Amino acid sequence: MTDLHSPPPLAEGVTSSQPQAQQILAELMDTLDRSDALREAQYAALETALSLIRAAGHTDRPAEAVDLLRNALGSARATVSATGYVLTTAADVIRADRSALRKERLGERVREMKQLHADYSDPDASRRVDVRDPDATAQLVGQIEQYGFAIAQCGENETPENTLKHLAGLCGLGAPVTPETAHLTSDVSPYKHVSAYTDIEGWHVDGLLETLGTIRTTALYCVRAARSGGATAVFNAPAAFMEMRAVDRPAADALLSPTVLTRRAKLVTGGYGQSKTGPAFVLSKDGTVSTRYSDNHTCRWDYSVAESGAVERALAFMRSAALERRLHLAVRLAPGESLLLRNDRLAHDRTRYEDDPDAPRLLVRALYRDVPHEC
Ligand SMILES: [Fe+2]
Repeated sequence: MTDLHSPPPLAEGVTSSQPQAQQILAELMDTLDRSDALREAQYAALETALSLIRAAGHTDRPAEAVDLLRNALGSARATVSATGYVLTTAADVIRADRSALRKERLGERVREMKQLHADYSDPDASRRVDVRDPDATAQLVGQIEQYGFAIAQCGENETPENTLKHLAGLCGLGAPVTPETAHLTSDVSPYKHVSAYTDIEGWHVDGLLETLGTIRTTALYCVRAARSGGATAVFNAPAAFMEMRAVDRPAADALLSPTVLTRRAKLVTGGYGQSKTGPAFVLSKDGTVSTRYSDNHTCRWDYSVAESGAVERALAFMRSAALERRLHLAVRLAPGESLLLRNDRLAHDRTRYEDDPDAPRLLVRALYRDVPHEC
């Protein structure tokens, strides 16, 4: 290319606005760093315009005008070439993004499928993961993908809060959240001390006033176990739901109704009255199943959302499934152990227990919006 930064002297008949335009274009070209194809295309386009303006000023010197027009043609070709490259690159990036998204969704489906086929009677389900292991995070995430929960051996050296913070850090859970029900009581700490005086249980998910899927992880840390009993039971509600869907689709679909389940806060510690209505299950387009299935004193079912008897059949199926050894497991935590569970994919409960009045059972709970993952 010719040196385009030095405007030629004014030709006869050329207006003063042409050198001014040339100056502006030259300055614009100086500001471009030409470090990528798009800026290279912009530079070439400016170069084309500059050559054309100069050619217009050389009408009295046809040979020079032809040279400048040839330069303009070369720059125009460079513009087209660079623009084509930018478009191709952009299309490749978009294709790669879509491909990554597809893979991510496929991965999510595979993880979901694992839990739908989990067998809680397998001793591997209650395997403990030592958080001191170098691959503790991978083990915890693997257990949660397989079963919807994982049991961690955390030790008793730290305070419960610090232990839960460490566990959350290992699993990328971020800061714990305070559920809406906490605002109905005087305890608004995100670390809830669960003792003998807390709410009556039954199958439930935590965060009864939250929309389904808001609180996706529950972590429980055992400070003191009960004298006997006092396990935390987990129920693979999504697996039971999909099995019901295969044999009684109308009953299963009734639990997808957006108004089928109302949960009302009836806390022993206070906070009566507020409620949340929504579906018991949500099926995503990618095949994942989320749940707020609960079956306790907080629940009110709307039997009119589907054909007569459908909700009744659905509840009977779920209650029967919850008794199957394959689909439920009672996890009795020892002091220093934690249970991490997908609150949006499992229902949980507490079994009966006998306490030692001098050293009552004490668990500390934290809730998270995120899910355990490898950071
Ligand atoms: Fe709970």
